[in-house]
Amino acid sequence: MSGPYHQLIYTSDASLDLTPEGLASIRDSSQRNNARDQITGILLHSGDQFLQVIEGPRAAVERLHRLIAADTRHEGMRTVLAHDVNQRDFGQWAMAVRELPPEQLAQHQALSQFFSPDFDLGSLRYGTPATFLLQAFRELNGAPEAP
Ligand SMILES: Cc1cc2nc3c(=O)[nH]c(=O)nc-3n(C[C@H](O)[C@H](O)[C@H](O)COP(=O)(O)O)c2cc1C
Repeated sequence: MSGPYHQLIYTSDASLDLTPEGLASIRDSSQRNNARDQITGILLHSGDQFLQVIEGPRAAVERLHRLIAADTRHEGMRTVLAHDVNQRDFGQWAMAVRELPPEQLAQHQALSQFFSPDFDLGSLRYGTPATFLLQAFRELNGAPEAP
């Protein structure tokens, strides 16, 4: 699909020395910079794992992708999906950040499958991967709050 926006979904492993302060700083930078750069999305942090969706104008998404890839607070980025879209799925959030206990992630098959190396996107029964994630977030504990 072609469209005016680019959307990227990836997972990564948090570095061993990521502190709550480090996470708070990622949240602050994200919400500030993304509002400036017309980027929206969600960031899930669970134990030593991240799952993020970023969307916006292609050049802005690619620039942010390079920046995030070079960030030593995580490693092992694996792209789940990168495609062009006609509309945003997370338009109201510069970056909605969620913490999820690892036990809860393990029990949540809909979310945890995104972390599997052989996850098949084609197996999703409804919606796009991003709307699927949004739905899973909502089921978990209500929609993320707008920053
Ligand atoms: C998992 C993860 C997700 C991140 N997401 C974003 C993001 O959405 N937007 C952003 O500007 N920076 C994000 N960052 C931080 C960037 O890598 C970088 O540190 C930051 O953009 C630098 O900007 P600052 O100097 O304003 O803090 C993320 C970092 C990590 C580790």
